[in-house]
Amino acid sequence: MSAIRYALWAALTLGAATALPAEGGRHIVYINNNNYPSLLYINNANGGRTAMDTNDDNSDIIQLILYPVDEDAKRTRKATVVLQGDAQGTLTLTQKEPPVGATHIEGEILNLTPGPHGFHVHDLGDLSGGCVTAGGHYNPYKKNHGAPEHRERHIGDLGNIQADTQGRAYVNVTDPLVSLVGPRSVIGRAVVVHADEDDLGLGGHADSLKTGNAGGRVACGVIGHA
Ligand code: CU
Ligand code: ZN
Repeated sequence: MSAIRYALWAALTLGAATALPAEGGRHIVYINNNNYPSLLYINNANGGRTAMDTNDDNSDIIQLILYPVDEDAKRTRKATVVLQGDAQGTLTLTQKEPPVGATHIEGEILNLTPGPHGFHVHDLGDLSGGCVTAGGHYNPYKKNHGAPEHRERHIGDLGNIQADTQGRAYVNVTDPLVSLVGPRSVIGRAVVVHADEDDLGLGGHADSLKTGNAGGRVACGVIGHA
């Protein structure tokens, strides 16, 4: 694949490079520069998933991350979100293996209407006009909207959360694309909870491939370092 060859060439021009064995569809090159020993991650931007694409787009996006080797850079990252609006809650985000490890999102949201609610990371942390100024779904790769397990999805697409008859939803998701560091970091962006169910791009509505047709925004909060 030419993208991989190009990446290896780039690594070699930076200094002596040693390719480490591929792990889980991800390639890592150790770059031996005395001033800045680094790992070059050559990573399928879709997280190495093998799920079928719902929209027949077979293109691959290769992501390159040059990341320090030192232990501090590899420590577990945490973030928090305080959701406010018609519903309220607090979420904790944890990424154990930055920069390319999955992020776990956990917490509780109260005062929802019972049933499913679209749950996304939106592009902007600007809540100056309420949840509406948080922009659209976080989508750095210009994909269509989808389900978290789809290859064709926004980074921000986290599917639905389920509120019980008391209007309480327990959030417990692990997502391979959401990151707290690097080029697709969600820090400073917003989590938004919607009034309605996200159709995961499959509803056939004019908005299905953009927003999942999930309706208004009932709670939001900015993702901050914790
Ligand atoms: Cu949303
Ligand atoms: Zn989306």
